[in-house]
This record gives sequence, structure tokens and C-alpha cells, in this order.
Amino acid sequence: MSMPEPTQHRFQGHNPEPGRSRQTEIFVAGAGGESPQVPTDFAHLRTAAREAMSVEAWAYVAGGAGMGATMRANRSAFDRWRLVPRVLRDASDRDLSVELLGRRLPAPLLLAPIGVLELAHAGADEAVARAAASLGIPMVFSNQASVPMERCAAAMGDSPRWFQLYWSEDNALVESFLHRAEASGCEAIVLTLDTTMLGWRPQDLDLAYLPFLRGMGIAQYTSDPTFLASLDEPMPAPAVKPPLTIATLRTAAAQLRNFPGPWSAKRRFARAAVQRFVATYSRPSLAWSDLAWLREKTRLPIVLKGILHADDARRAIDAGMNGVVVSNHGGRQVDGSIATLDALPRIVEAIDGQLPVLVDSGIRGGADVLKALALGATATLLGRPYVYGLAVAGEAGVREVIRNVVAEMDLSLGLLGRTTVTDLGPDCLKKAPSA
Ligand code: FNR
Ligand code: LAC
Repeated sequence: MSMPEPTQHRFQGHNPEPGRSRQTEIFVAGAGGESPQVPTDFAHLRTAAREAMSVEAWAYVAGGAGMGATMRANRSAFDRWRLVPRVLRDASDRDLSVELLGRRLPAPLLLAPIGVLELAHAGADEAVARAAASLGIPMVFSNQASVPMERCAAAMGDSPRWFQLYWSEDNALVESFLHRAEASGCEAIVLTLDTTMLGWRPQDLDLAYLPFLRGMGIAQYTSDPTFLASLDEPMPAPAVKPPLTIATLRTAAAQLRNFPGPWSAKRRFARAAVQRFVATYSRPSLAWSDLAWLREKTRLPIVLKGILHADDARRAIDAGMNGVVVSNHGGRQVDGSIATLDALPRIVEAIDGQLPVLVDSGIRGGADVLKALALGATATLLGRPYVYGLAVAGEAGVREVIRNVVAEMDLSLGLLGRTTVTDLGPDCLKKAPSA
């Protein structure tokens, strides 16, 4: 297995200064006439990513469910909480590290599982894996990745990674994914529960664009022996057949291009792979009683993603799960859903320290991470921001975005008069006066 590049950027457990060293690096480069290629300002980063992506790719990555109310709610929930700095407390030696599922992480941050990263950059998941590994930040491999998990794992050396599972209609395939995740050194399975069907997403619908139909974002499947074997089985005819047009031919060409291997394999399987994927990828019947099966099939910790109700959090404990991610999928599933930061306190109360509680959806900077931790989260998942960094500058772009988020986290922690993330609690926060 190849090791990642020397890790000069790795946030050492006790590097007291990831914030100031990042600032210095940027300002010194500026003295030499260079400004950051990847904007540190989130709004600018977003704009730069939009310019780097096709209209369809942008719609898929940035878009959300319905009228976008959940995405706005995620942000306004962060904005409603205000941090309360304390002074004169010697915050010179800071430590951002946290313990999560038996691993000490350099910061309370993981990269969220994000599908179809080839829409942002040709380097896709592998570029993200390298960037994450160079910093020791865990990456959660998506079930809908553009690059098979084995290749990403090989790019990460011994740096931590998890695997996110979509439970398809095919249990044999689920089992195969679990085995591959274990063999790839993944340290946890994240079972995503909020996407048993794709949400209603007008941005994609109005462009009539779904990347999977072009053979994108199905690399975990097309690299899987169980999936490939299933392609020889008879398949139900597609519910809707498109007319034969130039566009249909282009779609077929994309399917061929995106199916791995020699021409003979492409010709035989490319179309069938997409059809089989469409026929099996989602499982709306999934129920609590199914979890016992999964618990049996893997020795890895299982983390449930998409928890928004305290009762579901309690059930996760009863089902022998090992963690929860409070998430609304970045507002892509249910329009008008509860913001994750609004759901978090009750879930933290229900979990009562028995499991780690992770949170995502709307985290845009280091101060957001501190707010989530002050409300009781163990760690956070970064989503769209790293995809925007990927779109702007590939692997280096992802690395810059992560370093910037961690830098802001570190500086803000010290400026709050705190030195470790365990110092963060309700006394660091106040609700905005108008809220
Ligand atoms: C996602 N997300 C996601 N989640 C998951 O469990 N499996 C997946 O394959 C994907 N794919 C995916 C694609 C894109 C383009 C986006 C934006 C998101 C959800 C992701 O893990 C995370 O919950 C959200 O990204 C968090 O919201 P923000 O912070 O990105 O707004
Ligand atoms: C999405 C799926 C892939 O949000 O999770 O598009």
C-alpha cells in the first residue's frame, strides 16, 4: 500500500498553533504578491466553485430539496447562537484533538460522505482522500463515490477512513460492501437513513439531470464482484424508455466511458450496470428491525446518519449502534425540515453520553464547529465546503479548505478563552436577542 506524501501539514496532537501558522503562511505569501487561490471567505469559495463547475454539476452539488428552506434553516440555526468570549485566561497552548470510537483525531472534524465527486473535479474521491490523509482528518467514503473505496484507501496509508452505506434492495451487495470496507481499513460504517429515496430536488429536476444515469457515482458498484455477477441476471424492463435522440446517444456514450475496464466489458455491462443500480439502490422499506442483521454482518462500529428526533436517538442505543450523526443531508431531502443545530440539544440529552453524537449540515467555518461542540456534539462533518475546494483546486483545494476551517476553529477557541474542545459547553453560548 502506498503511503501518503510526508505529512508536513498534519495537525499534531499538540501543535498549539494551526491557526496562527496558517495565517502567517497566507500573509507571508501575500507579501510576496500571492493571494490564496482557494478563498478563505465562504461566499467567495462558493462563487469560485460555481465558476469551475458545469451548470448540471453545480445544481447537483449546491442544490437542495424543494424551495431550499432546510438549507436556509441550517444556516440560520447557526446564526442564532452567539459565542461568548472570555478573557485573560492564558489560551496560548491549545489542543483541538478529540477521542472518537477509540481513535484520537487531530480535530473534531471528519469529511462527510459526498457522492459523485467527479462532478467537481476529475481527481474526485482520490484527491479528497489524499488531502484528508495528509492532515490526519478522517474521510467517510461515500456509497455513491466516483472512485472505488480500495483506491482511496490505498491513497490514505494508515490515516483513518469510514465507509458510508446505502442499504440497497440487495442484501448480498450490502454484505459485499461491508466486507470491502473492512478489508479497506475502514474503521466504522455510517448507515445513512434519510435517503431511502432521493428527495424532491427542483434544481436537478428542471435540468432533468441525474448523474447516476450517465454511469457517474456508481464506482462502488461497478467495482464489486457481487454487483457485477448480478448483471447477468434478468432485469425488469425500465419503467420509462427515452426516445432515441442525440441526447440518448450521448448518455449511452457517457455510460460506456464511465464503466471501468476494457471495451468488451463496457459493451456488455455499462448499460446493465446503470439499470441494475436504478432498480436496486434504494430501500424505502428499511425499518428498525433490519438493524440486527447489519449488526451481525460487521464487526465495525455502526453510526446512524440522518437522526433528527430524540426518540430515534434512543432507539439507536437500544439497537446496539455505536454513534449517531444529526443530519438533514445538507437540506437535500425534506424541504422545511428541522435544522440540525436545533435538533442537536435534545438528541444530546437523549443519548446522555452513551454514544458519540456527530452533526453536519450547514457547517461553513471553524466557529460553526465550536458552536456545535458547545451544544454537546462530539465532532462534526464538513460537507459542501470541501467539495467547493475540490472544484477550485483539486487535492490542494480540499487541503486548504480543511486547514482554513481548522485554523479558524483554533483561533476562535483561544479567543473564547478556552484551550481544549472539552472546555466548550452551554456557558460559551447565548441565543441571539431577537431569537
Ligand atoms: C451529500 N450527502 C451524502 N450523504 C451520504 O450519506 N451519502 C452520500 O453519498 C451523500 N452524497 C452527497 C452529495 C452531495 C453533492 C451533497 C452536497 C451531500 C450529504 C452529506 O454527507 C452531508 O450530510 C451534507 O453535505 C451536509 O450538509 P452541508 O454542510 O454540505 O450543507
Ligand atoms: C445525494 C445522495 C447521493 O444527496 O446522497 O445526492
